[in-house]
Amino acid sequence: MRILTGLQPSGKLHIGNYFGAMQPAVQLQDQGDAFYFIADYHAMTTMENAATHRENVKNLAIDFLACGLDPEKATIFRQSDVPEVNELAWILSTVCPMGLLERAHSYKDKVAKGFDANHALFAYPALMAADILLYDAELVPVGKDQKQHLEITRDLAGKINDRFGEGTLVVPEVQIKENTAVVPGLDGQKMSKSYHNTLPICPPDTMTQKQVRKLVMKVKTDSTPVEDPKPTEGSIVIDLYKLFASEADVEKMIADHQAGGIGYGDFKQRLFDAYWEYFAPIRAKRAELENNLDYVNQVIAQGAEKARAESTKVLDRVRKAVGLR
Ligand code: TYM
Repeated sequence: MRILTGLQPSGKLHIGNYFGAMQPAVQLQDQGDAFYFIADYHAMTTMENAATHRENVKNLAIDFLACGLDPEKATIFRQSDVPEVNELAWILSTVCPMGLLERAHSYKDKVAKGFDANHALFAYPALMAADILLYDAELVPVGKDQKQHLEITRDLAGKINDRFGEGTLVVPEVQIKENTAVVPGLDGQKMSKSYHNTLPICPPDTMTQKQVRKLVMKVKTDSTPVEDPKPTEGSIVIDLYKLFASEADVEKMIADHQAGGIGYGDFKQRLFDAYWEYFAPIRAKRAELENNLDYVNQVIAQGAEKARAESTKVLDRVRKAVGLR
């Protein structure tokens, strides 16, 4: 089975990215032929400047390896190392109705947030469809916010097959894990860099452990007095704690909420401890890789070769089918 997913290099990887995409990607690399990439073309739709962009790409490459993606098992590459993806995006654009793009949530959200409505932002889903279809991907693990993009991908693949022949493109399935489909941010909205509510999997070097703890202390809670029982339904602290803690610890956290007598500060401390411990091995691996950038670059270079070999096959097939060859 061909598995594929991509992440944008748009700053520090947060725990929403980790549980929505990275952890499933690590699990799936043992179950099939996996392709994982750094979506650097996509990140250009919201990039600050070239230097930051380059730094973000490097950091995400390190994160991929620190989180456990294994170049022996998976092809790890950078999207722009296979520029042919733009050709497939163009071919897909020819069957992509404007209405489909106009209805895309991510475009509408970005415009609502005041980003310039450029063509790349509008055409984003066509490039994302090309990312997936260029590698004959059969399964795409993502968080729920990518569901619509996957529907568009399936739609476009179907249109190409209807018009140019069945089997021209593989129609992929999406995998969205129910319990991590939408990881909440510190304020309870979906965790997202653009909402400034993220918890990084590895804090930047400029941030001390104390400062990260302070961030966790910001998790939104209600104003139930210490002595009273506290609501457990919809509790962000509990929802986040479930990601890191054992079942027994989660049960205890819930029971302590219900009993009353313990304040939110205590619960948040437990959340911080569990989170900090959970990512300790990844932080350590990350620090190691920071000092071994030659290795990281080598992995990405080898990944590019493997990705290009695969994409050439698919693109040749598509070019023939649509009459370009
Ligand atoms: P991106 O970079 O915004 O996010 C990367 C992955 O993290 C997931 N995610 C979340 N999951 C659960 N809860 C959250 N709060 C949360 N926030 C982010 C996302 O769903 C995603 O799986 N367009 C994609 C990148 C992309 C791609 C692709 C993905 C480009 N081409 C092809 C798959 C296949 C994006 O912007 O993800």
